[in-house]
Amino acid sequence: MTQFSYCGGVLFCEDVSINDMARNVGTPFYCYSAEALEQNYRSFVGAFDGLDKEICYAVKSNSNQAVIRLFANLGAGADVVSEGELRRALAAGISPDKIVFSGVGKSRAELTTALEFGCGQFNVESRPELELLSAVAADLGKTATVVFRVNPDVDAETHDKISTGRAGDKFGIEFEQIGEVYARAEALEAIDARGLAVHIGSQLTRLDPFLAAFEKVANLINDLRMQGYSVDRVDLGGGLGIVYRDENPPALNDYAEIVQTVFGDMKLALTFEPGRRLTGEAGILVSEVIYVKESGGRRFAIVDAAMNDLIRPTLYDAWHDIDFVVEKTAETPLSPIDIVGPVCETGDVFAVQRAMPEIDAGDLLLFRSAGAYGAVMSSTYNSRPLIPEILVKGDQYAVVRPRLDYDQLIKMDIVPDWIFTG
Ligand code: LLP
Repeated sequence: MTQFSYCGGVLFCEDVSINDMARNVGTPFYCYSAEALEQNYRSFVGAFDGLDKEICYAVKSNSNQAVIRLFANLGAGADVVSEGELRRALAAGISPDKIVFSGVGKSRAELTTALEFGCGQFNVESRPELELLSAVAADLGKTATVVFRVNPDVDAETHDKISTGRAGDKFGIEFEQIGEVYARAEALEAIDARGLAVHIGSQLTRLDPFLAAFEKVANLINDLRMQGYSVDRVDLGGGLGIVYRDENPPALNDYAEIVQTVFGDMKLALTFEPGRRLTGEAGILVSEVIYVKESGGRRFAIVDAAMNDLIRPTLYDAWHDIDFVVEKTAETPLSPIDIVGPVCETGDVFAVQRAMPEIDAGDLLLFRSAGAYGAVMSSTYNSRPLIPEILVKGDQYAVVRPRLDYDQLIKMDIVPDWIFTG
């Protein structure tokens, strides 16, 4: 991302020095570029020029209010998977009719809230969910607009834990059952069945799994239409990959061409649910090296960020490029080093035997492509406060989520009066 580049040996986000930011805010922190977010959104929309479409930003990738608001201002809707995300999207100004509610386990309470707010589309993932949604909607005197998420049995060829479209994965309705479920929906007064949805996984770096899934869905839509059902919507999910290391993710235009080829003549309103592609490369995590040590024949750089701040490396063995905020002046040879956090788990590792120039205590490091599934997956494990998120626009920046302070953290617990407190 050109929004993160060096000027005079120091990394800048747009026109703000990350070094200055670190001095003012303290480390660790997330930093996002508003310009990169906007650019990513505009490129995404631009690729589908001329198609009847709604871009529903997958809030799960980065649910900071400022980020959602930025996309809302550009015309985005939202893809949400919980009542919390629904409320976040609404609070950030996304109108309810532009919200799609996805997820395999929406509870009665969540369905009720979503119907009361007038949620635009429910992506139903099972027959029991359809029955519950119908009952709740009927009770409220409302009609739920529904598409059915199909499990197309296509391997997304991505990390096992983020593949969602294979038979046996928990997501969606089996291909063979869609006809039956659609028929059932037609009989339910409070359900307005409009079409299908598909999402086969995340961080896809090849187009053929998309194509395979889309073709299956298109065939299914043709079958449903032949049976006399009206189908006027298809939700194509998210999943487009980004660059973490040396991936070559599909170009938006190539992806759009597939969509156009498969669905272009089908008279369908399209929904897209991009997350990572909009936010991933638009953010970094900045952390300071606390100690450098040698043990068991290995060198370790121990940084002040940890797996509770960015869990992707330990959860998915994910690679994040790591660089210095202030470039090293002297050319130092690369040597292998483990970059680890302070959490008391051996798995609290950001990089194993990474070839890096000499690292010293006090150095500021940055982890690239951390704008998606970074802050949102953080926790307070080891009683470490959630870290700040900072949004940059031009030469200004704002702390869009402050560091949690220790009092707030500790006050979340309640000691019942039947525990002796002395
Ligand atoms: N729609 C649905 C129904 C989804 O489940 C997801 C992501 C998206 C859209 C957005 O997908 P994207 O465009 O961001 O690939 N924590 C993992 C990623 C989990 C993705 C979950 N679902 C990671 O850090 O790689």
